[in-house]
Amino acid sequence: MCGIVGYSGPQNPKDVIMGGLKSLEYRGYDSAGVAILHKGEFKRVRAEGKLSILQEKLINEPFDGHLGIGHTRWATHGAPVERNAHPHTVKGVSIVHNGIIENYLELREELARDAKARGQVIRFESETDTELVAHLIAYQLEITKGLLESVLKILPRLNGAFSILVVSKDHPDEMIAFKNGPPLIIGQAKGAVVVASDVQAILPHTNKVVYIDDFEIAHVKGESFRIYNSKGEPIVKPVVEIDWSADRVEKEGYPHFMLKEIFEQPRAVARALAPHIDVAKQTVSLSGTGITDAQWARVERVLIVACGTSNYAGMVGKYLIEIMARVPVETDIASEFRYRQPVMGADTLAIVISQSGETADTLAVLRQLKTLGVPSLSVCNVKNSTIDREADGHLYMNSGTEIGVASTKAFTSTIALMNVLALQIAKAKGRLSPEDEARYVNALLAAPAQMETVLACDKFFAAAADVLKNYKGFLYMGRGVSYPLALEGALKLKELAYMHAEGYAAGEMKHGPLALIDKRMAVVMLAPSDNLYEKTLSNLEEAKARGGVIIALGTVGNERLRGISQSYLTLPRAEWNVNPLLEAVPLQLLAYHVASALGHDVDQPRNLAKSVTVE
Ligand code: F6R
Repeated sequence: MCGIVGYSGPQNPKDVIMGGLKSLEYRGYDSAGVAILHKGEFKRVRAEGKLSILQEKLINEPFDGHLGIGHTRWATHGAPVERNAHPHTVKGVSIVHNGIIENYLELREELARDAKARGQVIRFESETDTELVAHLIAYQLEITKGLLESVLKILPRLNGAFSILVVSKDHPDEMIAFKNGPPLIIGQAKGAVVVASDVQAILPHTNKVVYIDDFEIAHVKGESFRIYNSKGEPIVKPVVEIDWSADRVEKEGYPHFMLKEIFEQPRAVARALAPHIDVAKQTVSLSGTGITDAQWARVERVLIVACGTSNYAGMVGKYLIEIMARVPVETDIASEFRYRQPVMGADTLAIVISQSGETADTLAVLRQLKTLGVPSLSVCNVKNSTIDREADGHLYMNSGTEIGVASTKAFTSTIALMNVLALQIAKAKGRLSPEDEARYVNALLAAPAQMETVLACDKFFAAAADVLKNYKGFLYMGRGVSYPLALEGALKLKELAYMHAEGYAAGEMKHGPLALIDKRMAVVMLAPSDNLYEKTLSNLEEAKARGGVIIALGTVGNERLRGISQSYLTLPRAEWNVNPLLEAVPLQLLAYHVASALGHDVDQPRNLAKSVTVE
């Protein structure tokens, strides 16, 4: 949520900051702004809407200074209008902020009281919590005169989750960065310093970075920086050398990143699997993840926690692990788990899934599990993200950067990893015969090529979208491993097409949702030929009998299913554990094309952001 960038160095800060914000736009895109030194003042330019609008505004704006900050916003407090856009400036102090100051009302009243006692009136220009922090720092600056000292004074007063950059016209070669919660990374480039919410914005300038931890403060002066703890004592932090270059964030001929990412999935799944599969021996192994063989064998219970799409990938994991390894698995969404006083022990392995590695609720759960002594394994796409750094063991999706706000390739890569995890636990428990292992491994190795063939559905949905967009709603149904896919299909349609969609376990339909079905309701039935196929077919007949318009996904050659459905899309024949990978593709394409037909911005759906760093 919200992307922030700061730059101090010889290049034109406008170019560096705008370049950085472009790579952070996935974090929020309802307004944006910069404050850059010009003629001894921080000139502020802000715009409502996408970054491109700010870009336009900046074309003819000169800046002669070499220090500046920028922000792309996902609104929490105050409507997404220009007056609430960051930076917020008070008496020459400009700040950008990602997060929420929970006690801002209390601090605001206190500040107003203090000011009144001094015969002053404090005026607020915005409805944001951020502006308050600018006031607090400006007030402290009048007393302490030092930017670092002022931040040290106010930091203990702030409650909530925040990462903040501060500049001041009275300190034109200094910038302060501090945080509690959302990520903040600082890079030392040649003669320059870049600070940002995501390493992507830093990598074009340097791959040597320092991860600022909670309640630490980075003090940038000219071309270098020092880090201090919350007492103001200088500390030495490890410099991390990022071993990957700035990912290409180009559409490469696709109209949207999302479509490109859907088409990248066969490769992404292959990349997720590659480190863990011995193709010649037809075996899996999760060595080198930080969880020892003895720990794998000791696992008596698995907990999988995540949010949104990552949670649905985790639900697929539940079916896989329970069926293959016969170990009980509990799944939960992080925002619920963290407040339900869970009962856990050291025989549980907790798997936390997060594409971004920064989701606030998931991170909070990871920290909670640590205090309970539960070993944890993170499944992340972003290496060195907070969740990746804090978990005991680590697995990587290896999907490459996902720009589309709606997750696609990270989802299927995670399902591939859930398969590997299930096989690993089954093996460690002595519950997997070499024959079964080879069968599952071969099925997984074949999956990327099979996904490739399912991509042909693109044409069908591109053509059908104009009709599909007129339905009053969509019901997605599946059983077993296809049930989480039904939930994921519905989520994709909701977030992209803004249409009513629900995912249901097919067997649950007659307990209520069947009442929704009529000829204006599209029913997307996931019915691969697995052990539940016959049961799913009965549910399909029930939906059809009520007039529902049936779009079925089934295994190739299944003429019975074709006969029942209005539209029948075939999946290649696969082992049951691979079906979710194949089903994901048409569900994503359906949502993508319907949303496009409705004229929505599929890469940046309204009200959403890719990295949810607030509760
Ligand atoms: C939906 C989507 C979200 C994320 C969720 C968790 O398409 O992308 O539901 O899956 O916000 O994000 P991560 O995986 O980064 O923790």
